[in-house]
Amino acid sequence: MAATTPHSTVAVTSPSTAAQWWQNALIYQIYLPSFADGNGDGIGDLAGVRARLPYLASLGVDALWFTPWYPSPMADGGYDVADYRDVDPVFGTLAEAERLIADALELGIRTIIDVIPNHVSSAHPWFRAALAAPPGSAARSRFHFRPGRGPDGRLPPNDWPSEFGGSAWSRSTGPAGAPAEWYLHLFSPEQPDLNWASPAVRAEHEDVLRFWYDRGVAGIRVDSASLLTKDPALPDLAASPDPHPYIDREDVHDIYRSWRRIADSYAGGRCLVGELWLDDPERLARYLGADELHTAFNLAFLRSAWDAAGTRACIDATLAAHTAVGAPATWVLCNHDVTRTVTRYGRTDTSFSFAAKAQVHAAPVDLALGTRRARAAALLTLALPGSVYLYQGEELGLPEVEDLHPARRRDPMHIRSGGTDPGRDGCRVPLPWSGAAPPFGFTRQGAEPWLPQPPGWGALTIEAQDGVPGSMLELYRAALRLRRSLPALRDAALEWLSDDAGVLSFARGGLRCMVNMSSRSLPVPAGYEVLLTSHALDRGRPGELPRLPPDTAAWLSDTRRPAIASSAAPTVARPPAVLPPGWRTPDS
Ligand code: NOJ
Ligand code: CA
Repeated sequence: MAATTPHSTVAVTSPSTAAQWWQNALIYQIYLPSFADGNGDGIGDLAGVRARLPYLASLGVDALWFTPWYPSPMADGGYDVADYRDVDPVFGTLAEAERLIADALELGIRTIIDVIPNHVSSAHPWFRAALAAPPGSAARSRFHFRPGRGPDGRLPPNDWPSEFGGSAWSRSTGPAGAPAEWYLHLFSPEQPDLNWASPAVRAEHEDVLRFWYDRGVAGIRVDSASLLTKDPALPDLAASPDPHPYIDREDVHDIYRSWRRIADSYAGGRCLVGELWLDDPERLARYLGADELHTAFNLAFLRSAWDAAGTRACIDATLAAHTAVGAPATWVLCNHDVTRTVTRYGRTDTSFSFAAKAQVHAAPVDLALGTRRARAAALLTLALPGSVYLYQGEELGLPEVEDLHPARRRDPMHIRSGGTDPGRDGCRVPLPWSGAAPPFGFTRQGAEPWLPQPPGWGALTIEAQDGVPGSMLELYRAALRLRRSLPALRDAALEWLSDDAGVLSFARGGLRCMVNMSSRSLPVPAGYEVLLTSHALDRGRPGELPRLPPDTAAWLSDTRRPAIASSAAPTVARPPAVLPPGWRTPDS
């Protein structure tokens, strides 16, 4: 794949503060196959998203993050990319993607796309060429090919495991079908790892970034961002090498420094968002310096249990590490890889871990409790300083679908575990839009969604929740409206107001957020006006303070310095369009 895309040159500008929209944005994650189907084949697509832009605008989102839309054999939900400069026909066309980016901008909504630099699809022309070329060739140098160990090279070159189970190596075959060299894949065998020591790999990705920034995307999510560079000796993990041979290596930072120069060369505020599964917030913050990525997903927060002390420690560690490098924090409760929030919070173990998922999956779940906590968690995350990611369906309170028939599951995490791991299909079930029975308006009546929807989702559809006071959707809408209108939620620092066990209580300017994670109710302090609660307060006897019940959150306005003028209609200007100069609006 040659790097031939013309780059419309844009003057280098340092982004102004106003252009740093990602600092407190609400970013809605679209898992494209499951959002909305525009052509009736049962698979979500770009036409479906374009038709539903008014819904996203009414929700009040600032940006959309699209999981991969590129041509792909879909061995891993599109994270196996065969061509970075096009759109898979099942989702639409490149012209449609350009129109969607432009249409969303008209509504003040920016677009973030996914780039997957650690690996490509085994159907990518580079990998096909590598298989056809001899050992030691330039074509193979873009990947990690090695002879095997043991008799006849029948053992993999080292002991690295695939994230999806089994070895991270697969054996290729020679011209006459004889077993030949092995190649590295940290994920599935259909996702060969690229060799980032190859200048061609670096040049190609820099060109891909320009290709999409030229088309008006405002951000790029960097998949598996800490895994790209490998110790060239490829040592066994059992040899306990330090530093780790492929996680969070020092030389990976150089890649992001070059990417940052590219992002900064565009006007309008273009960001890079890292997917970094690192336990140590300070290691994570090393990617967020002024010359690297702009933000990263807060996956430590996503993994946290429903527990006040642990959540507070995570918030403090996040803010300290980000402040030290001048980067905005992000808050994430859910995404397309993890158990949906209301299900996770309805179990005894409310944390998330991939390792525990296979066991936790079988544990009983109380969805009413999980939903109640998810509502409170929504008010918590939307009150924290930084940007928030919202995974499609979170605003509806969708649960994980845990009873999918094994034959319908597509996720390699499930398939490669031999069926012991439920995998990630349960959080990827198509959205219910309207009606009382599947396909709930997701696709045309009579068509079958690519993953089956539970027949009981009628009460969770957007139509069923729209305008209904107390619904999850209206809670999100109300909170997002307030979040936009309260200057304190844009600018003010966080200040803890209480050390009581089981409660999170903090102020941001005149706004106080209280989250009761304990099992007893708590008095709402005097001197506050209640703006929004996730569940009705307990009103005591006349003269008594109302009480915040367990698993409930409240936003309160300090009457001495009100967070909101009670008569003021909340209005916030939509962000300006970010189309680069010279970019043409495609014909519609
Ligand atoms: C992270 C993505 O979110 C996940 O869905 C994918 O399987 C892996 N990276 C591999 O690309
Ligand atoms: Ca479709």
